[in-house]
Amino acid sequence: MVLHVRHVGLGVPDLRSAAEFYENRWQLEVVERDGDRIYFGAGCPESHVLRLRATEEPRVDLIALAAESAAEVDGVAARVAAHPRGRLLGEPGPRQDLGGGHAVRFLDCDGRTVEVSADVTGRVFTPVSASETRPKGIGHVVLNTPDIQVAREFYETVMGFRVTDWVEDVMCFLRTGPVHHTIAFTRAPHTSLNHVAFEVRGLDEFMRATGALMRSGIAPVWGPGRHGVGQNTFSYFQEPSSGFVLEYTTAAQVIDEEHGWTPKVYPANAQTTDVWGTANARDELVSATLIGRPDPGTWTPPPV
Ligand SMILES: [Fe+2]
Repeated sequence: MVLHVRHVGLGVPDLRSAAEFYENRWQLEVVERDGDRIYFGAGCPESHVLRLRATEEPRVDLIALAAESAAEVDGVAARVAAHPRGRLLGEPGPRQDLGGGHAVRFLDCDGRTVEVSADVTGRVFTPVSASETRPKGIGHVVLNTPDIQVAREFYETVMGFRVTDWVEDVMCFLRTGPVHHTIAFTRAPHTSLNHVAFEVRGLDEFMRATGALMRSGIAPVWGPGRHGVGQNTFSYFQEPSSGFVLEYTTAAQVIDEEHGWTPKVYPANAQTTDVWGTANARDELVSATLIGRPDPGTWTPPPV
């Protein structure tokens, strides 16, 4: 089974500015620098939660998911090979990046590079304590797709995701474990990253983290608020040099599998998107920021 998002690899044109933001504003920890790459850790055992690489244009390099075993990595590879929309980038084998392990990389139905890995060596980390605002790790990733049903089917079939809920036919929330969503898809004119959500310790830390950025002069794109679907809190911010959108989140709904779960379809209104009524309006500017530009990393795997 695929378990969670380990890390995201992003290409950024101004590596120095982006790294400064992630280290000093977003409060990730630099764990390694390797040529044109910088690796950032958080309050979790993952070797890293973010890899930045210097590129000409902002692009998504990869979405890295954890599998529970090497055998499951091989299973994912077999299902990619059998899927008409999947494209393996190599056979499963030793992982050639920080943390090592056993991995497979492939292009998904929209041409994103996805890595599924197991047996990755973690790192010694300091757990996040009360009132600390640094993130624990990645909670979920939301991806923009031109065909939400194709994306849903691919992630269900190849990686065992299950639909938790929908917002009309515009957003599809998928899980593999008890947390409401690990990956979600948003209908968009093109393939791109909608946002990466970093989990903070709790509600107090969520507001402190949001406020810390606001005090430093960085206004949220949208938030703070609490979503009706998934129940998680949200404050979306934009990393200024690349334009990628990040979210602080906490307190996502935990699904009670024991009593069964039937996906619901919610309407796209303010009650659904902002139950507290504290966020700014989700206007066209917010939507355009989250939809972003077509990702030049699509169908083009990163060189590392
Ligand atoms: Fe989110």
